[in-house]
Amino acid sequence: MTTATTLELPAPYGSCPFSPPPAYTDAAREAAVTRTVLPDGTACWLVTGYDEVRAVLADARFSADARTPGFPFLSAGQRELATAKPSFIRMDDPEHARLRRMVSKDFLVKRIEELRPGIQDIVDRAVDRMTEGRTSADLVADFALPIPSLVICLMLGVPYEDHELFQSLSRTLLDNRTTRPEAERAHAELMGYLAELAAYKRGHPADDILSRLAAREDLTAQETASLGFLLLVTGHESTANMTAVSVLALLQRPDQANLLRADPGLVRGAVEELLRHLTIIHLGLGRAATETVRVGAVTVPAGDGVICMLSTANRDRQLFGETDDLNLTRDARRHVAFGYGIHQCLGQTLARVELQTVLTTLLRRLPGLRLAVPADQLAYNRDNIVYGLRALPVTWA
Ligand code: HEM
Repeated sequence: MTTATTLELPAPYGSCPFSPPPAYTDAAREAAVTRTVLPDGTACWLVTGYDEVRAVLADARFSADARTPGFPFLSAGQRELATAKPSFIRMDDPEHARLRRMVSKDFLVKRIEELRPGIQDIVDRAVDRMTEGRTSADLVADFALPIPSLVICLMLGVPYEDHELFQSLSRTLLDNRTTRPEAERAHAELMGYLAELAAYKRGHPADDILSRLAAREDLTAQETASLGFLLLVTGHESTANMTAVSVLALLQRPDQANLLRADPGLVRGAVEELLRHLTIIHLGLGRAATETVRVGAVTVPAGDGVICMLSTANRDRQLFGETDDLNLTRDARRHVAFGYGIHQCLGQTLARVELQTVLTTLLRRLPGLRLAVPADQLAYNRDNIVYGLRALPVTWA
């Protein structure tokens, strides 16, 4: 039997900023797959169960290509972005696999572990800059945002003297107050910069991603720039937002922060639990059925859109126990915060190392870190695909 609950997306949050919206948890309680209505009025399927989310994301009959009929869009902006300039995150195999393969070696665990000391150095300098001559800061703008951009500069091989330009263009692109013409200008400038840098690297190769891509015969300078751009955009906002909401979650749970401060060896598991508990890709992952497919108890007809809700999947009580509680010692490794299947996050090891480094460093170096405003005055980015904080005023005096 098909359940036909209808609800609006995106739904408002309840009182706890970290819980999935009540509309989703209600839907999840009712059935693992329900009917829903998108903001533009289109009907689609909301997949909230853990097994069902993984089944959809692992099934090649569900397309991640936004041009596939029925693909669900949560906003007009998302439609434009995904259909106008598709990158491999919005492609199906074999094209997706061809392009992903070109950068996948750079994100293997061994390679990222080699970067750990460099990442530690970037994080230490970010703490130095944030704290120099002052006792308060906005942890989002002054700390969480610059770190992933500096890390990706290191990986792509952006020369140090260009960091300022690179960072200011990426800041413009990622700031949701940026107007459309400003974003287009910054996009064109950054793409031009990356294409020029790739051309330079062809003649002066070094041990970095752009050099390796530039040396390939089967990629144009433009395609190389596009891949560099995709890594910048996908790796930036998600890691920055995850950093800020993780710090907030720990400030609100001093018992858990103290646990981690006392035993930094817990950090790997702690990051997995934070990824599970916070699930910042909170509006879900869209797919379109290219054939009629059975998902759990429901038959999804060809041409229908589905939204896989990672946040409710990550609160599966059978798998994780008392899921609404943040418990840094929980075994949360089976979470789906990085997605599942062929599109599972390419940068997950990098994100993990960045988050582990950030949290242990902040807890060690700023033991007095606390909110500088009451928690109920914090403003969240609830409408973005990536959930986060607009600002996080903190003090350590
Ligand atoms: C894909 C989450 C950090 C690069 C994804 C997907 C999720 C995700 C859920 C799957 C999208 C889909 O199936 O439609 C996150 C989270 C992060 C993070 C929560 C931080 C906490 C990063 C970083 C990078 C990165 C640091 C790289 C610099 C990518 C890429 C894809 C992707 C390239 C597309 C993979 C593909 O289509 O094959 N990410 N991500 N991400 N992520 Fe991440």
